[in-house]
Amino acid sequence: MRVLVIGSGAREHALLLALRRDPEVDALAVAPGNAGTAAVAEQYDVDVTAGDDVVALAKRFAADLVVIGPEVPLVLGVADAVRAAGIACFGPSRDAARIEGAKSFAKDVMEAAGVRTARSEIIDNPARLDATLDRFGPTAGDPAWVVKDDGLAAGKGVVVTADREAARAHAASLLDSGHPVLLESFLDGPEVSLFCVVDGETVVPLLPAQDFKRVGDGDTGPNTGGMGAYTPLPWLPPEVLTAIVEHVVKPVAAEMVSRGCPFSGLLYAGLAITSRGPAVVEFNCRFGDPETQAVLALLDSPLGQLLLAAATGDLAAQPPLQWSDGAAVAVVLAAENYPGRPRVGDVIAGSEAPGVLHAGTARRDDGAVVSSGGRVLSVVGTGADLTAARAAAYDVIGSIKLPGSHFRTDIGLDAAEGRIGV
Ligand code: GLY
Repeated sequence: MRVLVIGSGAREHALLLALRRDPEVDALAVAPGNAGTAAVAEQYDVDVTAGDDVVALAKRFAADLVVIGPEVPLVLGVADAVRAAGIACFGPSRDAARIEGAKSFAKDVMEAAGVRTARSEIIDNPARLDATLDRFGPTAGDPAWVVKDDGLAAGKGVVVTADREAARAHAASLLDSGHPVLLESFLDGPEVSLFCVVDGETVVPLLPAQDFKRVGDGDTGPNTGGMGAYTPLPWLPPEVLTAIVEHVVKPVAAEMVSRGCPFSGLLYAGLAITSRGPAVVEFNCRFGDPETQAVLALLDSPLGQLLLAAATGDLAAQPPLQWSDGAAVAVVLAAENYPGRPRVGDVIAGSEAPGVLHAGTARRDDGAVVSSGGRVLSVVGTGADLTAARAAAYDVIGSIKLPGSHFRTDIGLDAAEGRIGV
C-alpha cells in the first residue's frame, strides 16, 4: 500500500512512523512535511488546501490511500476532491468536517443527538455582546466565561477567564475581524480526548488521552495548540469510557448519517468529566495534536490497514485493536514567545534523538535543522507506567538545545501521582 499523508506537524510525523510499522505499507509520501518527516517519507511541497494540487500529487505518487491530518484542508473539501478522483481518502467530507469548522453546527448536531454539552449562544452582532456576557460567566453562576471563535482558530481562539473585561475584549476582537463568537457555560472536571475511527455508524475508539492546552505549568497562561499529552488515563473508569462511546460518539455519528453528511475519518471528542457525567467541550474532525503522538506510540495494530478500512467502508470487519501495555507521554518543545508570534530560524541541537517528532522544523541549505514554527518538536516517552513514560520523555527533552525554547514540566504529573478523580 502506498500512502500519502497531508500535513506538517508532529501529528503527521507520528502518523508516518506508525504507518511505516504496518507490513502492508510499502511506500510513504508527505506534503508538505518538515525536517523530521523527510527521513521517513518522500516529501513534496504542494498547497495542501488546494484539492486539485493534492489530487495531482496523489496520482503522481500512485497513492492507494491519502490521509489528511489537519482540519483546514478537510474543512475546505480536499477529501471530497481526492475521493472524486477515485482514490481512497481517510478524512471527512467538507460537509461532515463542519463538526469542527462551525461550532454552531456541532451544537445543533449534539442537541439533536441528545448529547450533553455546554449551554451556548452565538453572537454575530456587537450590539448584543454585553447582554449575552451577562447570561454567562460569574454573573450567571459559572466560574468563568468561555469565549470561542465559531470557526477554526488552531486551538487559540478560546479564552477561558473570570475577568469580564478580558472576555469582552476577546469577543469584541473576534467580532471586529468578522468572526461570529460562541459564548459557553464553563464545564468543570478533568478533560478527556477520545479519538474514534468512524465510518458512518461504525465507531472504533482508540485509547483515551488528556492534553494540556495552557502554556504554563499548573494550567497557567494563555491557550495554545497543545503543550503535551498522555495516555491511557488511569483515573477514567472503563464504564465512563464505554458511556462516551455509546452515548456521545455513536449518537453523533448516527445523527451525521441521518443528516446526509456521514462522517468518515477520525472523530475527536473533547469532553469534560463533570459531576453529572461526561459533557462535550468540542468535536474535531481529525487526529488531535499532541495526543496522537502519545496514542500512536502504544498502537500495535497496523495503522495503514485500519485507516484504509475506514476509507473504503470495511471498518466494521476489522479485528479489535491491539495496544502495548504501559503508558506514553508527549511533551511539546515550543519556540520563544509561543503562543504569541514565535521566534524562528534558530538551530536545534539534539532533534535526532529517539522519540523526537518534528513539527515546526526545516532543514537549512547547510544541513542544520532550524525552528520554523511555534510548536517545534514533540518528545514522546513510553514506559511501564506514567511515571516511567514521563521520565523517558523529560530525559530526552532536557537534552535538546533551542535558544529561548520552553516546555511544560507537569505533563501527566497529576495522573501519575493519583491526584485526578472523577
Ligand atoms: N489537542 C488539541 C487539538 O488537537 O485540537
